[in-house]
Amino acid sequence: MSKGRILSGMRPTGRLHIGHLSVLENWVRLQEEYDCFFFAADYHAMTTAYDDTGAIKENTREMVADWLAVGLDPEKSVIFVQSHIPEHAELHLLFSMFTPLSWLERVPTYKDQVQHFKEQGKDIMTYGFLGYPLLQAADILIYRADAVPVGEDQLPHLELCREVARRFNHLYAKIFPEPRAELSRVTLLPGVDGRKMSKSYANDIAITASFDDIKKRVNAMITDPARIRKTDPGHPEVCVVHKYHHYYSQEKVLAIEEDCRAARVGCVACKRFLAEKINEILTPIRERREKISERYVTEVIKEGARKARAEAGATMELVRQALNI
Ligand code: TRP
Ligand code: SF4
Repeated sequence: MSKGRILSGMRPTGRLHIGHLSVLENWVRLQEEYDCFFFAADYHAMTTAYDDTGAIKENTREMVADWLAVGLDPEKSVIFVQSHIPEHAELHLLFSMFTPLSWLERVPTYKDQVQHFKEQGKDIMTYGFLGYPLLQAADILIYRADAVPVGEDQLPHLELCREVARRFNHLYAKIFPEPRAELSRVTLLPGVDGRKMSKSYANDIAITASFDDIKKRVNAMITDPARIRKTDPGHPEVCVVHKYHHYYSQEKVLAIEEDCRAARVGCVACKRFLAEKINEILTPIRERREKISERYVTEVIKEGARKARAEAGATMELVRQALNI
């Protein structure tokens, strides 16, 4: 028996990295218990990449292929691309009629993001970017989802979604359940240079990385700067390698810590051990990924669109009735 309906999305950034893995593993688990809808949020990618849309399609397909490699299963979940379901855009438009501007302006991340992009010379004070969380509300509500697995950073967006649902239900007809957040334990691993992990900083490890790629990136990890010689005692708490061991070598992390502090292990050996651990986890994913053809991805998202569209269409029927249009 299904516990209800889950929906989640991800912006297509192209090939995924190990920082995405805990989110995806959570999705893979959820598909055993819930009716799941997972989609690539390509409209959302356009809110910031409006002047450079050339890579969005390819990035979307690559991301979906990575999802399948990690274990999302089109037999269990509906896997689709947002822009293939134009009803998302229609519901977003209708929501925009009754959503006060102030609700969008006060979303905590909004002003920060605008500032962040401005510093990089990019103006995202557009209509579309302000409406980002409203489009997200439409994504969720159009499937009348019960729960949305998201990271903590997305909680304000989900709160806005609930407010929009309440307002619609109050103004017109009670159509939408108020979805709850399904908070999962996600591991926040830094990039190899200690900054936020991102493909654009080239400080990430792709989930499809070869053993050589993994070794290269692990070798580039920032270690304890005070540890110049192998005989110097180390401070694992400031070392990126150690942060990764916490996650990838749980059973050995305490021993590694002690050995580091006592200068019983050198950074070279410590890194080699980590690279092997990561490789153990990525090998089956990489092997599955190699077998996923372009054609298969096309089939999956086509079938996903068919199923998603049936659901979205049914909701839009109710919405149009409620609005009397
Ligand atoms: N904003 C989400 C992110 O950046 C992506 C997203 C778009 C989403 N629509 C959604 C997530 C609906 C959950 C539900 O990760
Ligand atoms: Fe980091 Fe390992 Fe070197 Fe200690 S031994 S500083 S944990 S790489």
